[in-house]
Amino acid sequence: MIQEEILRLKKEKDAVILAHYYVAPEVQEMADYIGDSFFLSKKAVELKEKIIVFCGVEFMGESAKMLNPDKKVLMPDLTADCPMAHMVTKETVDEARAKYDDLAVVCYVNSTAEIKSWSDVCVTSANAVKIVKKLPQKNILFIPDKNLAHFVAANAPEKNFIYNDGYCPRHEFMDAKEIAELKAEHPDAEVLVHPECNADIIKQADYVGSTSGIINYAAESKNKKFIIGTVKGVIYELLDRRPDAEFYFPKTEPICVNMAKITLEKLRDVLLSEDKEVMLPPEDINEKAKLTLERMLEYAK
Ligand code: 13P
Ligand code: SF4
Repeated sequence: MIQEEILRLKKEKDAVILAHYYVAPEVQEMADYIGDSFFLSKKAVELKEKIIVFCGVEFMGESAKMLNPDKKVLMPDLTADCPMAHMVTKETVDEARAKYDDLAVVCYVNSTAEIKSWSDVCVTSANAVKIVKKLPQKNILFIPDKNLAHFVAANAPEKNFIYNDGYCPRHEFMDAKEIAELKAEHPDAEVLVHPECNADIIKQADYVGSTSGIINYAAESKNKKFIIGTVKGVIYELLDRRPDAEFYFPKTEPICVNMAKITLEKLRDVLLSEDKEVMLPPEDINEKAKLTLERMLEYAK
């Protein structure tokens, strides 16, 4: 069985498997650690194994490599890339830096190493509000995600936000009408959504948070029905934590096509061949980008 092969190879090669909540349930089942982007980047610096296999998208593997330059970081599919991770230009950052003296460039971890290298600090959706509030600067250029930026701005009204036009296609184009229909069908359900969702979805939410925030909320709630506004992969952990509850997703199934590229077969193959290795970015980029990740880990404490 492929699962047994994966376990055997993992042991033989001294490898550890990290998986994001958005990958397929059968891949999550093979992981030593499953989590949101923040948990996985914290975890990545605590591991003893020689090889890290990252079941997620490129920026996650790249961050793990930058934080662990001496380890071999493998990904089952190196083409699994988050489109939002590219959605900001250097001009946007340069213009804001020229205009404001008192500016922090805050970069969502869903970004390339190059974009991180233009920034002052990284954040994830789990720690963005906390970190932005701690920053000494008044003006915040938040890149690349406009929706997370608006969510953080609403929770840090003392700051002046400058927005960029990036977004996650999966959450930006989620249909608010489909959430409204679910609410009409299940009026006693709580609506839990990711801050990458568009404003019309956020308006309808009882809770807005990262994937692990959504999972923890459902796990601790007395409610038994939840409408979920994020990628369907979270259902595996939701059902594990709340087997008694019912979860409803929008009719247009929220699938991340890049996370869906991570299959059991590709996980087995990369453990066998060790050929899909994540490389460090060029040295000048790596040094600055790594600093933004380390600042995130420090500020989030
Ligand atoms: P989390 O950090 O909440 O897991 O989000 C990652 C992501 O890619 C959301 O689309
Ligand atoms: Fe990127 Fe959206 Fe997929 Fe998350 S769900 S990895 S933000 S494309």
